[in-house]
Amino acid sequence: MKNIYLNIYKPNSKSLKKAKKSLENNNVIGLPTETVYGLAGNAYSNKSVKKIFYLKKRPAFNPLIIHFENLNDLKNDVVVNDSFIKLYKILCPGPITFILKKNPNSKISKFACAKGGTIAVRFPKHPVARKLLKILKVPLAAPSANISSKLSSTSAPDVVDEFGGKIKFILDGGRCKIGLESTIIDLTGEPTILRQGSITTGRIKKILKKKINFNYKLKKIISPGHLKSHYSPGIPVYMNRKTSNTDEAFITFGKKFKNAKNTFNLSLNGNLNEAANNLYKTMRKIKKKRFNSISICKIPNRGIGNAINERLKKASYKWKK
Ligand code: TXA
Ligand code: MG
Repeated sequence: MKNIYLNIYKPNSKSLKKAKKSLENNNVIGLPTETVYGLAGNAYSNKSVKKIFYLKKRPAFNPLIIHFENLNDLKNDVVVNDSFIKLYKILCPGPITFILKKNPNSKISKFACAKGGTIAVRFPKHPVARKLLKILKVPLAAPSANISSKLSSTSAPDVVDEFGGKIKFILDGGRCKIGLESTIIDLTGEPTILRQGSITTGRIKKILKKKINFNYKLKKIISPGHLKSHYSPGIPVYMNRKTSNTDEAFITFGKKFKNAKNTFNLSLNGNLNEAANNLYKTMRKIKKKRFNSISICKIPNRGIGNAINERLKKASYKWKK
């Protein structure tokens, strides 16, 4: 069944088969996951992977996350280790990505890994992504479905907003439950968080019973993808504001802010998970209403609030005073 958008398909056995065929022909599709939508292609195919980079306008030095259905599927491609297995058993499938060493015999496209010796591995929880991975014989390379450095997509129509008719096939898995990208942890050496997400550092620390590093405390940028400016709505964003001008959009959180035409509350009840889920959706709405800038109130730095603030810091980087 097609939606009003010609390229959005409701998931069923027919559309899943069509998605499979499309991927086997090295085409790229829109894929729902529990975090954000992905732009997915056959991870073993240079042709597919090159299409993803081209469509996203992504620099070739920024590697892609490879999505698998389960542990057995990845053993020929990556070298696993104890920390990974411990985290996998408790957290997967789920919103976490592991950086592991690439197996020298791996069939993953060298372009997906930006010609490096590591692979980012993820096991998405969304039932549609899992069903598709199950019927495929290959893993899926899938970065977030947005133009490089812009806002991620949290619904199928968002993917259309980003790419128009350039993506011929998008599986509609509804609105993403989490709405923020997965946590990324590098396990090639001492465990190091490269990107915060809904699985918190505290949770990981409890499982591994080890010190966890943060990449921003290290001197070098581990992943070239961790650029300072990212997740951008394309208009100036200012953080930690108590008030805003009436001609700019004001993103608020909790009960203490008055409702006005230009305010957009992420969670009236002060629920950070709800706020995370509304963040990109709200920013997209603000852009459509043609506001020229966004002020945003202070968001508490606890739980997923850390991940929200990490995104906002990058979204506001260019306009920092
Ligand atoms: O939730 C998610 O992770 C979503 C869904 C679609 O799975 N994907 C996603 O992909 O956010 P992307 O490409 O937008 O962000 C992946 C990040 C990039 O910052 C990239 O630099 C980093 O992962 N990355 C990928 N491979 C890496 C590697 N081998 N070493 C270090 N960082 C890597
Ligand atoms: Mg992204």
